[in-house]
Amino acid sequence: MKIAFVASEAVPFAKTGGLGDVAGSLPKALEKLGCEVKLFVPKYLQINETKNNLHYNWDIGKIPISIAGQVRSVHLQQAVLPDSNVQVYFLDCPHYYHRDHFYTNHPDEDERFILLCKGVIESLQRLKWIPNVIHCNDWQTGLLPIYIKDNYSWDKIFNHTATLFTIHNIGYQGRFSADALLKAGIRDDYFLDNGPVEIDKTFCFMKAGISFSDIINTVSKTYAQEILSPEYGAGMNLVLNSRKEDLYGIINGVDYDLWNPEIDAFIPFRYSMHHLGGKLENKKFLLEHVKLPFNEKLPVIGIISRMVAQKGFDIFADAIDELIKLSAQWVILGSGEDKYETLFHTLAQGFPERVFAYTGYNNELSHLIEAASDMLLMPSHYEPCGLSQIYSLKYGTVPIVRKTGGLADTVQDWNEYLRSDKETGTGFSFEDYSGFSLFTAVKRAIAAFNDKETWKKIQINGMGKSYSWESSAKEYIKLYEMAIAKRA
Ligand code: ADP
Ligand code: GLC
Repeated sequence: MKIAFVASEAVPFAKTGGLGDVAGSLPKALEKLGCEVKLFVPKYLQINETKNNLHYNWDIGKIPISIAGQVRSVHLQQAVLPDSNVQVYFLDCPHYYHRDHFYTNHPDEDERFILLCKGVIESLQRLKWIPNVIHCNDWQTGLLPIYIKDNYSWDKIFNHTATLFTIHNIGYQGRFSADALLKAGIRDDYFLDNGPVEIDKTFCFMKAGISFSDIINTVSKTYAQEILSPEYGAGMNLVLNSRKEDLYGIINGVDYDLWNPEIDAFIPFRYSMHHLGGKLENKKFLLEHVKLPFNEKLPVIGIISRMVAQKGFDIFADAIDELIKLSAQWVILGSGEDKYETLFHTLAQGFPERVFAYTGYNNELSHLIEAASDMLLMPSHYEPCGLSQIYSLKYGTVPIVRKTGGLADTVQDWNEYLRSDKETGTGFSFEDYSGFSLFTAVKRAIAAFNDKETWKKIQINGMGKSYSWESSAKEYIKLYEMAIAKRA
């Protein structure tokens, strides 16, 4: 089976969050199961050509792509996804992709991803490589299904090419004003009220992806249910309900070559569930590194997150006066909205022995925090899958999570009063989206931490869990088969 996998970021080339992790690892897992996969991503300025062994594909030459009445030239650069034979194609168009950030609020943000969608199709034509499935990810790739079915239907080579649209996060929809329709070359009638690309008078790339793809999925079973409701659907619930029969949930896997405390290249002390000693050494190392005093009695609670409303920092702020009184230290890594970054910096200044905050993106530090912390907090308002908590399980770092989406599917609550939970519990969860419930969960976790035997049991329960890609990739292959059958 031939799969063109399209995403706006992929590890190790470009990453802002979990989408990058998925796009850099699922293609490898698919290849191991016998698929031929080619990965397509934008060639952002920040992707270092030398370090990543990129080279130009001169056979293809310049691809002219017209957007908004202008012709833009795209060149293809190529590399191999590390530890695989997956070919990665970078769409090189400096006009659109040489910016300070991968995602922008610039007025041509729509054009940047219209270019990605058109560019992928034009590249496939020139490569003469006809995929059975184009696997689209999030709104940036939402126009591909329409392009395949409408704009490029004249090219019979795509007659049997199916599309799968994966929703990683319904909160980011790519909504633009009506003039984007013309820029993208999409039929006007799709934009009538409640038409397949229209919502609240905007042209919505995500709605387009949902409306026109053969099969749709999201990244956990619980989130696949949640997004059918007005509360979690963020306006997409109606169109999703209309396609309910074609909507599936597949939990993300983990690249355990990168996220495994036994071999992690970024941590100073390696350890395993059989030799947990290295974890304490990492904790000492981290605390020294961030200049917090080490005290074995105080758990370190880690936070590694994009700092946006999705991640539950409102309720964290509500509870902070009580949280800070608990016997714990906090190591926080993240970047995002100013108000949250300021909150964490203020905390660090106010409690220099208890709180360290780093704002910005730092991959190495993220690995160290996973390894060194005792707990990891993810109080998300919603969470399609969540990868950080899955990494935590493997690192013996006990997750404290709000029971929603993928957090509900991957963390089993440990309850001090239920014997069965003692056998299986891997973390602490709470349901109510409130500062009080968050505080209660953290307090429960700290109480358990103080009982060494209990704590070790919870850690070992989590470390024994495996979320390797193999089984999720098999589920994706089933969806590809369904999509191909529907297209036929
Ligand atoms: P999301 O995709 O919504 O951000 P996930 O939990 O799926 O949430 O994935 C987040 C990924 O991004 C994890 O790999 C995490 O380690 C990483 N990450 C988040 N913030 C940072 C940061 N500031 N620096 C480095 N890595 C980060
Ligand atoms: C999104 C979601 C996150 C998920 C990731 C990868 O960014 O917020 O929950 O793990 O995509 O699918």
